[in-house]
Amino acid sequence: MNSDLAHRTALVTGATAGIGRATALALAERGADVIVHGRDAERAAGTVARITALGGTARFEPADLSDPADVTRLAERAGDVDILVNNAGIFRFARTADTDQATFDAHVDVNLRAPYLLVQALTPGMAQRGRGAIVSISSGAATTPGTGTGIYGATKAALESLTRVWAAEFGPAGVRVNAVAAGPTRTEGTAAYGDAFEAAGKSVALQRLASADEIAAAVVFLCSEAAGYVNGHTLAALGGMPALGQGSPDGRSPAGTA
Ligand SMILES: NC(=O)c1ccc[n+]([C@@H]2O[C@H](COP(=O)([O-])OP(=O)(O)OC[C@H]3O[C@@H](n4cnc5c(N)ncnc54)[C@H](OP(=O)(O)O)[C@@H]3O)[C@@H](O)[C@H]2O)c1
Repeated sequence: MNSDLAHRTALVTGATAGIGRATALALAERGADVIVHGRDAERAAGTVARITALGGTARFEPADLSDPADVTRLAERAGDVDILVNNAGIFRFARTADTDQATFDAHVDVNLRAPYLLVQALTPGMAQRGRGAIVSISSGAATTPGTGTGIYGATKAALESLTRVWAAEFGPAGVRVNAVAAGPTRTEGTAAYGDAFEAAGKSVALQRLASADEIAAAVVFLCSEAAGYVNGHTLAALGGMPALGQGSPDGRSPAGTA
């Protein structure tokens, strides 16, 4: 087992399910001590137990990320953190005309304000220690328009923008900041879409959904020294864009239709 992340403490938000849990396990496998964040104590205990079974160290820190005071308390309780994975997020898709203010606010609060507050609170310590890695989970919705993905995609696009700003602000202190844009991934959160979600998998070049482990592997790479000179980057774990058809001069339209 590669234990290159030994003696590193990693805070993974939303580590009670899906991509966050897979990331917490993968970081623990590489030797990191993991702070498992979420709200659901039972699911958190499951993540902690799986890390302990691997011979790793983990503890649960609950917080509701929609409450800024709770986010601040989480940062305080976390203490010295070397790796921050801003994974927790919500996705409730609706056309703009059908998006009420509560849905708008919930996306901004959980997907954007919480990572912002955590970065504000935890980067001074990283800078003082002269090292740190931050990875935020974005989405293809940040760059590809989708009907009904408006406010969700907007929060992810903002997170990608902040990734570049934070890389510039904290890079001089030895803190790297990156993001992973995840493609359609089988998780507890997407289970509700049932078989219809398979179609989203078919729409990428690999023609299948991602597993949470595949997204976690990209996150762990960006946290590791193997990505020591990667800063301000959004890694596309999107399964690839399918070709539209035979090549054409503009590179987009199927030949004969341009
Ligand atoms: N799955 C995909 O296809 C996909 C694609 C692109 C990007 N992403 C992004 O990847 C991330 C994880 O997605 P997922 O599919 O793994 O999600 P998921 O299965 O729904 O799990 C969401 C996690 O976030 C936590 N969470 C949600 N709201 C919270 C809140 N208010 N306070 C604290 N924790 C909260 C949940 O914790 P509790 O349940 O314990 O509260 C849970 O651990 C999200 O940022 C999502 O936008 C997912």
